[in-house]
Parts: sequence; C-alpha cells; structure tokens
Amino acid sequence: HAHLLGIEPLAPADITAILDLADEYVALNRRDVKHADALKGLTQINMFFENSTRTQASFELAGKRLGADVMNMAMQASSIKKGETLIDTAMTLNAMHPDLLVVRHPHSGAVDLLAQKVRCAVLNAGDGRHEHPTQALLDALTIRRAKGRLHRLNIAICGDIAHSRVARSNLLLLGKMENRVRLIGPPTLMPAQMQDFGVEVYDDMREGLKDVDVVMMLRLQKERMDGGFIPSEREYYHRYGLDGEKLAYAKEDAIVMHPGPMNRGVEIDGEIADDINRSVIQDQVEMGVAVRMAAMDLLARNLRARRAEAVEGA
Ligand code: CP
Repeated sequence: HAHLLGIEPLAPADITAILDLADEYVALNRRDVKHADALKGLTQINMFFENSTRTQASFELAGKRLGADVMNMAMQASSIKKGETLIDTAMTLNAMHPDLLVVRHPHSGAVDLLAQKVRCAVLNAGDGRHEHPTQALLDALTIRRAKGRLHRLNIAICGDIAHSRVARSNLLLLGKMENRVRLIGPPTLMPAQMQDFGVEVYDDMREGLKDVDVVMMLRLQKERMDGGFIPSEREYYHRYGLDGEKLAYAKEDAIVMHPGPMNRGVEIDGEIADDINRSVIQDQVEMGVAVRMAAMDLLARNLRARRAEAVEGA
C-alpha cells in the first residue's frame, strides 16, 4: 500500500504484518536508547486541522525515534486562516518534497482527497467520522497482547457509535480478524441498519456486556452533534456509563479500553479507568507509538521501492 488511509482496504495479512512489526518496536521503546534509523533521511510533516493529544504526540515521537526529520505544522497559525484551501496547502507542502504526511481533518474523505494530490505517503490520523486507522491498529495490538489472540473474541463497543471514526475503523478491523462485535448505545447515537454489517446491536448495557472479553468505551462527541440530540450527562452515565455494577456482566477477565480523551463520570467511572487489573487504557497509549512507528516504517519501505523502480524505469 502507498498510503494508510483506512482499515477498509487492508487484508488480514496486512494487519498482522503491521502488528508483528509494532511488537518489535514496543521492545525498542522500552529500552533506554530508543533510536532506530528506518526513516533516516526522510521528512515527515504532521498536519492536524483538529485538536489532538495522543495521536499528534505519538506520531511525532514515532518519527523522531525512527530518525525522520519531523515538522509539526501549526495549523492554527497557517495560511488556512487566510482562506487557502486544503488542496493548495497540500500542493505547497508537496513542493517541499516531504516523504510522509500525517493528516487529521474534521471532514470525512478530506485525507483521501489530499493523498491524490501529493507524491508522498499519506497517513490518516482521523478524518471526520470516517476512519482513524492507527487507532484501530493500536487497539488491536493492545487486545492481542492482553488476550493472546485477535480472533474469536466477543468485543463490545459502547457509546456514541454514530459520530465515531474510532468505532468505524475498529468495526472493520475486528470483523476482518473474525471477532464477534457488539455495538451498545442509545438508539439516537446508533447508525441505522448496523445489523447488516454482521454485528449485534444493543441499547441495554447489561444485556450487551454479558460474557464479553473486551469492553471498548467511547466519548460523547458533542462537537459532531451539530444541532442534533445531546443527552444529559447524568442520564447518560446512569444508563450507559461503565461502572463496576455494569462491568460485572462481562467476563471476569474482560479488559476495559478507551481511545481517549476520556470524560470521567460521563461514559466511564474514574475508578474503573484507573483499575490496573481491568483497564488497559495506558497500554493503548504505549501501543500507539509502536504502531505508528511500524506503519511509517512499512510505508517508507514501499515508498523507497517505488522510487527505486521509477529510477530504473527512467
Ligand atoms: N484517541 C485519539 O485520537 O486521541 P487524540 O484526539 O488526543 O489524538
């Protein structure tokens, strides 16, 4: 693959290859000296048109640990504010010969569009409610390491499914790896006809969580509820917030996940989030750096191979 735009185009073998390499980078990241040179000589530009803590920081660290020259565009201070379009911005950066472009954008499809206009590898760091592929990959690595496998697991994704690119990418990935996925959430935050995607849909947490191996919680994405129904946080926590009583319906060894940012007391009880026997939320963050190193390493190998072919063919 020339880009990483979503989980949709990936085959199970592609997913396994990224996770296997990411496992090696977890080991590197735990050492005192964390440097490798897979991206040496390459230029990585991070363009975040939407706020981020985890994704932006981990892509930056991942690039630096692999020896890339990393530049973070301050989008708030860029000429986008003066009316320059996304495509003109991309073409401008393209003329500076970057090798890897990491892009987060509030509009679904914006990153795909940009990838068609540039001559480097593009990584989608989240586009609207469409996809967030590196999040699904880091979630998969976290599950595989905690459960010892990434197939035939019962996995519940809970909360605001309708506005979530994380849910969409996870649904695609977990389905490709032959897991049973359940979606749990209020009908107002559940897209129509989800059953057609081969998932089970519940609006009752206790029913949906029964005997699951993995509980994945999502934030209420109010920034995407433009004018639509916004539930009261108290009522939402009562019905859909993960607390000890609801978690007791899952398997005894079920793990609790959350992509962050987390709203304690809204979708998750703070004590559950901090319970090191159940919560793997900090592991997800650790896996995020390794998965992004692996994804950029593989794309850079592909890029170098294509460039070498082009030179030979010239
Ligand atoms: N999980 C995630 O994408 O977090 P950020 O928005 O902080 O990057």
